[in-house]
Amino acid sequence: MAENKNLSRRKFLINSSLAAATVPFLQSSCKQNVAATEETNSEESFEFAFLTDIHIKPEMNAPIGFQMAIDKVNELNPDFVITGGDLVYDAMRGNYEKSESLFNLYATMAKGFKMPVYNCLGNHDLFAIYEESPENEDHPDYKYGMWERHFGKSYYSFTHKGWHFITLNSLDVTPNKRYKSSFHQEQLQWLKNEIEQIDKATPIVITTHIPMICTYTQLNGGNSRVVDNAPEVFKLLENHNLKLVLQGHIHWKEFGMVNDRFHFLTGGSIAGNGWKGRRHNTREGFVKVKITGNDFTWEYVDHGWETERLKLATES
Ligand SMILES: [Fe+2]
Repeated sequence: MAENKNLSRRKFLINSSLAAATVPFLQSSCKQNVAATEETNSEESFEFAFLTDIHIKPEMNAPIGFQMAIDKVNELNPDFVITGGDLVYDAMRGNYEKSESLFNLYATMAKGFKMPVYNCLGNHDLFAIYEESPENEDHPDYKYGMWERHFGKSYYSFTHKGWHFITLNSLDVTPNKRYKSSFHQEQLQWLKNEIEQIDKATPIVITTHIPMICTYTQLNGGNSRVVDNAPEVFKLLENHNLKLVLQGHIHWKEFGMVNDRFHFLTGGSIAGNGWKGRRHNTREGFVKVKITGNDFTWEYVDHGWETERLKLATES
């Protein structure tokens, strides 16, 4: 990963008008001291929204659907938004101009959220990794570059009211130019250092695009749909207060508990089946999580896209 190059590009962008448009989404500026300075107050409560697999593109009325989700989130007014990756569709195959226009579309629309947004990287956000892309590995935006130029480092953490949130980058690229569901070693080393600084009682939420646990393959067969080295992350968190793993990618809605210890939640999707309707018969929507003390509750919020999509289809 050309991190230094990205940092220097980011420094440049901070002095540009484009940076002014993207600063609210730079997670690196949200990094806080991980030795939580705030005690978790058992009376404290807050909410956040988890929106995954947005797949923004100009076609298929996708901007109308995403705007409806933004409006619904603003109406609910959570403290912040976490996204679950696949912000755009799609940068893997595209040229620079097309991919950059998609990232700009997402960044411009996401400015409509009235609260901070913490983004996650998905496979469709990886720039120019597929053979069919006209760009190559030498491009400064290759792989994580375009995402990181817009949104900051692709793995990071922040603390909110005593809860610690860690967003992971669950993607890499194979030698034959396909995406690979894996936490790379540099990130695992960062995570190890990070976790060592977190109090063992601090509640932790992990966000990952590719699920770390998922029932999809058990139900449908086929290849694994989870991060291949997810157990390494679970091992690192073994003696900490992991509460919840937020996941995307499958456009699948599931919720489970492991050993009275932590939960996993795969949060459906905003885009459904490529903006054409439900995927896996799961309606388009997002997750609202309410934290109270050391516990949480959640609900899936339908922002009305299915009804609107059908209405638009009959009008056209
Ligand atoms: Fe997706």
